[in-house]
Amino acid sequence: MPPDPVALLQDGAARHARGDLAGAERLYRQVLRHSPGEPNAHNLLGVLARQRGDVAGALRHTERALAAGPEVPAFLANRGAALAEAGRLPEAVAALRAALARRPEDPVTLRNLGQALCALGDPGAALAPLDAAARLQPAAPEPLLALAHARRESGDAEGAAAAAEAALDRAGGDAALAGQAHFLLAALGHGPAPDRAPAAYVRDLFDQFAPRFEAELTGRLAYATPALLARLLEESGTPPRRALRVLDLGCGTGLSGAALAPFARRLEGLDLSPRMLAEARRRGLYDALHEADLLDWLPGRPAGFELIAAADVLNYLGDLGPALRAIAGALAPGGLALFSVEAGEGAPFALGEAMRYRHDPAHVAALAAEAGLAPVARREAALRTERGVPVAGALFVLSRPR
Ligand SMILES: C[S@@+](CC[C@H](N)C(=O)[O-])C[C@H]1O[C@@H](n2cnc3c(N)ncnc32)[C@H](O)[C@@H]1O
Repeated sequence: MPPDPVALLQDGAARHARGDLAGAERLYRQVLRHSPGEPNAHNLLGVLARQRGDVAGALRHTERALAAGPEVPAFLANRGAALAEAGRLPEAVAALRAALARRPEDPVTLRNLGQALCALGDPGAALAPLDAAARLQPAAPEPLLALAHARRESGDAEGAAAAAEAALDRAGGDAALAGQAHFLLAALGHGPAPDRAPAAYVRDLFDQFAPRFEAELTGRLAYATPALLARLLEESGTPPRRALRVLDLGCGTGLSGAALAPFARRLEGLDLSPRMLAEARRRGLYDALHEADLLDWLPGRPAGFELIAAADVLNYLGDLGPALRAIAGALAPGGLALFSVEAGEGAPFALGEAMRYRHDPAHVAALAAEAGLAPVARREAALRTERGVPVAGALFVLSRPR
């Protein structure tokens, strides 16, 4: 007797719901062995792949499911979610809308649609689906937090703060979610700015951004920081002779690594976003990549790097004291620190509405001196554009004395 596929799928889904992903996968695959192409098994394998961060697998399985059942709302919804993870946003929006046309009251799909529309730069269109998601799940903080971000991006700061407060109320013991709501409130001027952006916020932000990061930064955002830092390094006396042991902090997809490579005998990268790191790995430029928060990883490292760079990274930290001390500690004597900050004035640091920190360059210089780093060069620069306006920054080269 061949096993009953319905029973196998039910058993698999129950394991899936309990978090036993390996057990669920085994049963779904068993279904496919007996009924190749069975769309529910493909659909659930697609969900499972997405949970594991296997975007290619999620795309493959959801495509198979949808080919067999193009009208099934769950297949359309999971296809849309996989496309959104892959950064294929217009296709994701179409699939999610098609799912909602057949099953309008699906809060997860409404939230996915809202977040995809925000990522596409249309937060106004995201408001209705996110409102609906929040109404359908009144006790859940996640849709409210997503709604708060969409309101902030569409210019409704007060509405954003109200939604963030409501998310905070419902966050319960979820410290990561509460931290994100507090951070958003602080960026909106409700409450003091924390010393840094929550790591979970930065990781989620860049995980979502990873597939589109390079196209957006080098295109619409005219991102210039890596090239500007490399030029300042060379002009301040370090020739690009592939001679240095280099660490690229917050390496992202490797745009900064590409600018640093001509200086590097060995190039290591570090980032807390696994999906940015996956893109960097594909680039094939780094000798080693580390998934970590720089504030956890750097302290206690042997003083071995000859150049530590951070391009467009320190704007996710408020108090730069710990980072500068950790950088100084990981530099070999005579080693160089090279980084950018977004420039502010007056306060040592301020959290902007765009949820990044600005730093007063004079204060950064004072902190660097306290950390034992001597000035080599400093320059004002436009780091990139945002909504068509140049983002003012400061570039630093500092050295650890011999
Ligand atoms: C705007 S991107 C810049 C990436 C790269 N340096 C470049 O120039 O293209 C900022 C990167 O810093 C990473 N990042 C931010 N804070 C970090 C931290 N505390 N530890 C490690 N990585 C961090 C983010 O995950 C993201 O990939």
